Amino acid sequence: MDIVDAIKAEHDRIEEMLEQLDDLAGNGPTLETVELAADLVARLRAHAMAERDVLYQACIRRGGALRELAQRAGLEHDALDAVLMRLRMLHPGGDGEMKAAVGVVRDLVSRHARDEEEALLLPKVAAGFPLAERLAMGEAFAAMEERALEARAEVHVGEPLSRATLATGPGLNDGEILP
Ligand SMILES: [Fe+2]
Ligand SMILES: [Fe+2]
Repeated sequence: MDIVDAIKAEHDRIEEMLEQLDDLAGNGPTLETVELAADLVARLRAHAMAERDVLYQACIRRGGALRELAQRAGLEHDALDAVLMRLRMLHPGGDGEMKAAVGVVRDLVSRHARDEEEALLLPKVAAGFPLAERLAMGEAFAAMEERALEARAEVHVGEPLSRATLATGPGLNDGEILP
């Protein structure tokens, strides 16, 4: 798949997950919310890593406006990552902290993915790289993202609501409130 299309499709998926998490984050701590938060962080980090290593590197090598946009995008990833690391440590529920963090992530993702990447960077990529190169980058992007998601054991929400804790908990099912 053309890397331009692959990245846009991924942005749509991420936005759906963010909407869903925003709806759930202020409710009681359920397994569904904790799992979704962990999935979201893992997916966003895998997306960012694959973009940086495949697309941004190619844009930086190309120079000019592509390099400037890619350098800026890399810094935006760093800012987003700081909030994602915070989100990993938060618990859903009444104190509203997770919902606040999800709101900040939504703002940053919307600005970065829609207003910068989709409006500015990707049209220049479509114009500046031949289709064969975009297809090759699309393949490399998908492969790198998949590898990063497979290695997601390292990406988990903080104790005590980690996956491990939940998995060994007393018969907790999706949607149940944690004890
Ligand atoms: Fe990005
Ligand atoms: Fe992106």
